Amino acid sequence: MPVREIRHPLVRHKLGLMRRGDLSTKSFRELAQEVGTLLTYEATQDLPLEDYTVAGWCGPIKAERIAGKKVTVVPILRAGLGMLDGVLSLLPSAKVSVVGLARNEETLEAHTYLEKLVGELDQRMALVIDPMLATGGSMIATLDLLKKAGCKEIRALVLVAAPEGIAKVEAAHPDVQIFTASVDQRLNEHGYILPGLGDAGDRIFGTQ
Ligand code: PRP
Ligand code: URA
Repeated sequence: MPVREIRHPLVRHKLGLMRRGDLSTKSFRELAQEVGTLLTYEATQDLPLEDYTVAGWCGPIKAERIAGKKVTVVPILRAGLGMLDGVLSLLPSAKVSVVGLARNEETLEAHTYLEKLVGELDQRMALVIDPMLATGGSMIATLDLLKKAGCKEIRALVLVAAPEGIAKVEAAHPDVQIFTASVDQRLNEHGYILPGLGDAGDRIFGTQ
């Protein structure tokens, strides 16, 4: 499934602000949540609807609502938490499944340290959120885990993606659509995205 780079002017503007190396933790945090909200809007455009009737002010009114089980949002710890509130602002009743992964900075391999998934994953769409898709290792490990737990429909929301990581995710999970604010140029020799955002987790948590 092709990656979707969101060209909306608000996304382009906010991501441009996030590129500034001297941006405060506060502003970086706020923008990560805001872009998370905008990506959610794009990624949920085709959610199935069902008709129902509400007791309106003038009697019964036909209305529509999102059908089926609630979506589960899946933040990849730690940096994925930096987008969570932004996503939940549009999906306030979503369930949250948490996956803790840390990338070994030498081997670049993702190591899983936490897995707390909600029930009935076979009936829920999962929205995986992580600011960075670099080598793709963390995303692939999360997608493997979700599918093993029964999840059938998964979308990934990332602020910035590297072409190398996109290719790996597409090869391993061709059914998963990736929504991103930017497909950047490449990875550097340390597995960091260029031009990227630097270490997103450190910038969100103020640990740099
Ligand atoms: C970062 C980022 C992704 C991962 C991307 O997390 O938030 O999860 O690296 O890299 P990959 O595509 O090469 O796997 P990190 O492991 O640094 O942990 P953190 O979120 O706790 O900072
Ligand atoms: N993780 C980050 O936070 N940034 C990158 O560029 C790559 C991995």
